[in-house]
Amino acid sequence: MEINGYTRTCGLMGNPVEHTMSPLIHNTLAKKLCHNLVYIPFHVEQGKEADAVKGAFALNFLGLNVTVPYKSKVMDSLTEIDELAEKIGAVNTLVRTPNGFKGYNTDMLGLYRAMCSEGIQIEGEDVILLGAGGAARAVAFLCASKNAARVYLLNRSKDKAEAVAKEVNEKSGRDCIYPMALDDYRSLPDKKFLAVQATSVGLYPDADRAVIEDEEFYRKIHTGYDLIYRPCETKFMALTKKQRGSAFHGLKMLLYQGIIAYELWNKLSVSEEMALEVYCMLQE
Ligand code: ATR
Repeated sequence: MEINGYTRTCGLMGNPVEHTMSPLIHNTLAKKLCHNLVYIPFHVEQGKEADAVKGAFALNFLGLNVTVPYKSKVMDSLTEIDELAEKIGAVNTLVRTPNGFKGYNTDMLGLYRAMCSEGIQIEGEDVILLGAGGAARAVAFLCASKNAARVYLLNRSKDKAEAVAKEVNEKSGRDCIYPMALDDYRSLPDKKFLAVQATSVGLYPDADRAVIEDEEFYRKIHTGYDLIYRPCETKFMALTKKQRGSAFHGLKMLLYQGIIAYELWNKLSVSEEMALEVYCMLQE
């Protein structure tokens, strides 16, 4: 569609933004749905994030995505924050309202939709969650809010695992997160788990590494979900498959966090068929 006086603008603010796939998701959706909308990545210098939010509002932007390192920092510049995003303590999507932007976190809902689309269930499951950074915190909230039975949160630094478990247990009102040191994985109950890999280990170009290398550990996994999508087969996935588990990478999570943002900006729902068409383009 031709850019003209009616074109609505959305974008991504972050640093760096060079390798983002979000423009492909949003500009493809706009094209397929015949919306007069453009999505542009913006490199924002540290310390300029409040100016960027203010400027985007003044320029009549419909919405923004927010990525590293600003997901928590922009929260002070918003007029409203969705309850879930408030709990998680991070926003990745800003939606225009009459007085300013409202912040949402579509990362977690995106992961949930991605898991549903793969037929992965959280409710009633015992989960191993690897990591205690920002991404793992959001996954812990997801597991608590979707009624996972128990979540064993394993992290290299145990104090961080304890802090995340305490916070999520308190805020969710469910005592379902059990913190553990990563090295204690041998003391996990002897059964099969859904495992979510939420550390940064294995991310390109460190593709030949997994946060736990011991093949025995992977016998405990019936389904492994790695939040990393580059490379598209991580070592965590390969080790899971080797022990006959199913394994998934995080590309669908990326897809659905974008789709949910697009839905919030345009007040519509994107069909599953359309979502999968966009997914095919992301895989190319
Ligand atoms: P994100 O926002 O993507 O979650 P983060 O907050 O920097 O990123 O968190 C990175 C996670 O990967 C943490 O859980 C980190 O463990 P620590 O809390 O002990 O630092 C984990 N991680 C990073 N490198 C690791 C490594 N070499 N071995 C084990 N865990 C690692």
